[in-house]
Amino acid sequence: MDFRDISKMRVTVRKFDQRPVEKEKIDLILEAGRWSPTAVDYQPQRILVLNTPENLNKVRQFCTFGYDKKYAELTEECDTADHKHNVYYYGAPLVFLICWDKTVCWTHPQSGQSSGSTDATIVTTHMMLEAASLGLGTVWISYFDHDKARELLGIPENFEINGMLYVGYPAKDFKPNPHMSGKRHPIAHTCFDNSFAKPYRTDFFEEAATVTFRESESNGLSKA
Ligand SMILES: Cc1cc2nc3c(=O)[nH]c(=O)nc-3n(C[C@H](O)[C@H](O)[C@H](O)COP(=O)(O)O)c2cc1C
Repeated sequence: MDFRDISKMRVTVRKFDQRPVEKEKIDLILEAGRWSPTAVDYQPQRILVLNTPENLNKVRQFCTFGYDKKYAELTEECDTADHKHNVYYYGAPLVFLICWDKTVCWTHPQSGQSSGSTDATIVTTHMMLEAASLGLGTVWISYFDHDKARELLGIPENFEINGMLYVGYPAKDFKPNPHMSGKRHPIAHTCFDNSFAKPYRTDFFEEAATVTFRESESNGLSKA
């Protein structure tokens, strides 16, 4: 699969099969993150691999917030939407918690803005796309209780939490979320031609690939 196929085929998965992700695939995903660019090549990302029942149970405890109707309706697969809380775990057998070390990342001299979050985000994106190329599903998770995660996982003080990436084989009956997946603005909405007053015009436009399942032994995501 070339890059265009992978980028179009990838879709957020919020319902996972319980089959564990093979160690070789975990290694390949981490390797894809390792080769990400980071500012000054400082590589401030610090990634925790969580795939034991004990640690996944901790994720289940901190991937929850008080009930929020907006998100409960958008992600109708959330485990509990009982007007008390939503649990965004989705049964993932593998979770990467991506942090960055405040003491090693580059800081912009004018703005004082650290590049740590940008670096960690690029790393996560590499990992997400590698996972897709391996037939695995992913969902990027930002909406979780950072304080509780810090406490339960013993995250060092100098590490900032950037997010989580859930990874696994999609459940057999998984379907992309109709409210959020496969919808993108036209290029002219987000891109501009030499001036922000002039939307960039192009006739080149592709629909998202339809996601199906390979009926083969890998049973992962594949392009229709
Ligand atoms: C930075 C970032 C944060 C996200 N946070 C969450 C999240 O907390 N929970 C969730 O279910 N999905 C989350 N998502 C997934 C997005 O909702 C999803 O990527 C978007 O709706 C587009 O759908 P698609 O990935 O299927 O193309 C996040 C995605 C990104 C890039």
